[in-house]
Parts: sequence; structure tokens; C-alpha cells
Amino acid sequence: MDLKGKKIILGVTGSIAAYKSAHLTRLLVKAGAEVQIIMSASALDFITPLTLATLSKRPVLVPFQKDETGEWNNHVELGLWADLFLVAPISANTLSKFANGLCDNLLTATYLSARCPVMIAPAMDLDMYQHPAVKQNLSKVASFGNVVLDAESGELASGLSGQGRMMEPETILASVEKFFKKTQDFQDKKVLITMGPTQEALDPVRFISNHSSGKMGLAIANSFLNRGADVYVVSGPIALKVNKNHFHWQDVKSAKEMYEASHKLHGMMDICVFAAAVADYAPAEIASEKIKKSDSELSFRMVKNVDIALELGKLKQPGQLHVGFALETENESENAKGKLDKKNFDLIVLNSMKESGAGFQLDTNRVHIFQRSGKSVSSDVESKDTIAELILDQIKLAPIWV
Ligand code: CTP
Repeated sequence: MDLKGKKIILGVTGSIAAYKSAHLTRLLVKAGAEVQIIMSASALDFITPLTLATLSKRPVLVPFQKDETGEWNNHVELGLWADLFLVAPISANTLSKFANGLCDNLLTATYLSARCPVMIAPAMDLDMYQHPAVKQNLSKVASFGNVVLDAESGELASGLSGQGRMMEPETILASVEKFFKKTQDFQDKKVLITMGPTQEALDPVRFISNHSSGKMGLAIANSFLNRGADVYVVSGPIALKVNKNHFHWQDVKSAKEMYEASHKLHGMMDICVFAAAVADYAPAEIASEKIKKSDSELSFRMVKNVDIALELGKLKQPGQLHVGFALETENESENAKGKLDKKNFDLIVLNSMKESGAGFQLDTNRVHIFQRSGKSVSSDVESKDTIAELILDQIKLAPIWV
């Protein structure tokens, strides 16, 4: 009874895998969860509401309007009621609506209103699953903080074989249980995350910056959020779509602004993750007018920027935990471990530019994490969401918590 008292909305959409929702409902109810099912209209072609209502012991909801009296199913209340919104199976169509904020039925309206974590289990044919539009939608909803339960490989309804089968109900149940266990483990912790690049202005229209996308930092922020933390983000300029309402979010541009915002927050934080790619140097002067071209060479004097992690490391108090990042191209491990001491980190995450699948703009990464105790762990090439989970798991292992 691992899910005792947990309130789960189970969304069911139009896919042949909808027949598995009956078994999933049974497993969730058996584990102790209260399950409220919402079906999309096309899910009705695949499974009857009577089956799901009987198994969930609650009437199934489909349209906005309850009956001809005009009474409506309140999607806002439903969204607030739930501890988890699980959509299994999610079709390519509903996925696309989630990714783009379309809201033409009760299921999609509830998605937009839900404040609880969202998990989705896609099911579709293999070519649909590989289509760039679907892939883009999956990474878009993942960037909103939704947990994607990757489709499994095997025989598909079309007769073809490949990735696209909805994860088996038993595996979904295990993921839900693990998720609830994890959601507690950073409860009430205040976490600061610096992320993205910084921009150092040369004049009113130009700046010096770097290729950081902010994807790794955002994945970490989402993982902390899903595991119950109170998350403060200080972000350089990024192009990602983020639901900032979930965080205490501050946008900054320069390293100086990032330092000032982080310094103000530092004293009340339990954990600080320095994931930003902060420019080490900034132009000594910012021209007040646009610099005009001329026939001669142009050079700038650069001055050292404040090292945010180093300065806040000096202020670190017992009970506070600092996590740093290192991006190295040579003597990776030695340089990373050197930074662990220099910047007073408890853990450092090493990205190696030499490894394929790891880098600034990618959705995947490969890291080595060094603990102050000397222990270390290396990941495979994984999605940045999986790497973020690994980083949080490693934070839990740091001696500070024992
Ligand atoms: N960092 C920071 N402020 C800076 C520079 C870096 O907070 N001005 C943080 C980064 O967010 C990261 C860590 O320090 O967590 C390591 O950054 P990195 O740039 O790799 O290290 P540096 O000390 O700048 O060393 P080098 O440039 O020689 O590699």
C-alpha cells in the first residue's frame, strides 16, 4: 500500500494501449491511491467508461459539461485536488496539445490548471514516435518539468516492431511509487540554482557570452521541484520555455547581476547549485553609444568578473551544501577535483567536452560526479533529466545529510 492517501488523476487518451489503463487503474487502486479518471473523447473508442469507473470506484469524467442542466466538471478544482496527474496512454495528438497549451477538452484544461507534478506515458507507432515533431513535443513537455515515461520497444498494434509501446502498467506503477518516495526527499529544502550563460555588455547592442543553453540547470531545477524543494533560480538569458510560476525566478544578464541576486539569497539556502556558465571576464568599460566601425583594429580591455561560486563558498555555513560544475578539455578529473577544494564545493559535476553526447545545446549529457569524500560516480550518455536525477541522488549521499 505504497500509495495510500495519494490522489491521482489518470488521463486516458485515444490509443490502442488504452486497454492497459484498466489494469493500471486496478494496480493504482490496489496500492492505496484514490484514482479519478478523465478520458478524452477518442479514448471512448478504445475502452468503456463503465470498465474504468468500476475499477476506479468513481465516475469517469469526459466532457466539460456534466449534463444538460449546464453543470460543469471543474477542471481547476480537479487540478488542485490531485497529488499527481498521470496520463497513460498519451497519444501523439494529446501530447501535441500539452506541448502547445491547447485546451479543447476537460483533460487538456485540467493539464493547464494542474499544480501537481505530471507524468506521461506515450504510446504510438514507431515512426510516429521517431518523428521530429513528436520528439520536439516530448522534450518540450519535459522542459515544463513533466516526467516522460519512455515508450518501450516491442511488437506494435500495426504489426511493426519497434519503440512506441506504452510502458507496462507494472512498470508505470513502480515509477509512480518511486516518484512519490522521491518527492518527499527534498521537502522544505531551499535550493538556489544559478543557470544559463551570462551576457557581458560591450555597448548598448553588443555583448560577450557563451553557448550555454540552460538545459542542464533547468533539468536540475525541475528535479528539485518534483522532489519537494522550494526552488530559487537565478538565470542568465535563455531561450527555453519555462513555467516560471513554479519557481522563485529571477532573470539576470551579467555576472555582476547574477552575483548580487545569488548573494542576497545565499544566507537562507540549504543547497546551492552553481550550474551557470559565468563569463570569467567582462569588458572594462561599456560604451554608452553603439561602437561605430572604423578602418583600424579594435581591441577591448577585459577585467576579471566576480567568481560567484568562490565568493559564496567563503560564506558557506555548516548545514549548507554547495554543488559546482566543471567543464574541462584536459586533465579533467584533476582540474575538477582541484575546483572542489578551491571553491569549497561538497560535490562537483564534471562535463567533458571530449565525450560525444555531452555539451551545451544538447538534450543529453555525460558526467562524472566527485564527492568531497573522494567517492565518484560516472553516468552513461543520458537525457539531462536523468542526469539531474543522478545529481540529486548524489546530493542525498553527501555526508552533510547523515
Ligand atoms: N563559476 C561561478 N562564477 C564564475 C565562474 C565560475 O560561479 N565567475 C562557477 C560555475 O558555475 C561552476 C564552477 O564555478 O560551478 C566552475 O566554473 P569554471 O568556469 O569551469 O571554472 P573556473 O574557476 O572559471 O576555471 P577555468 O576557467 O580555469 O576552467
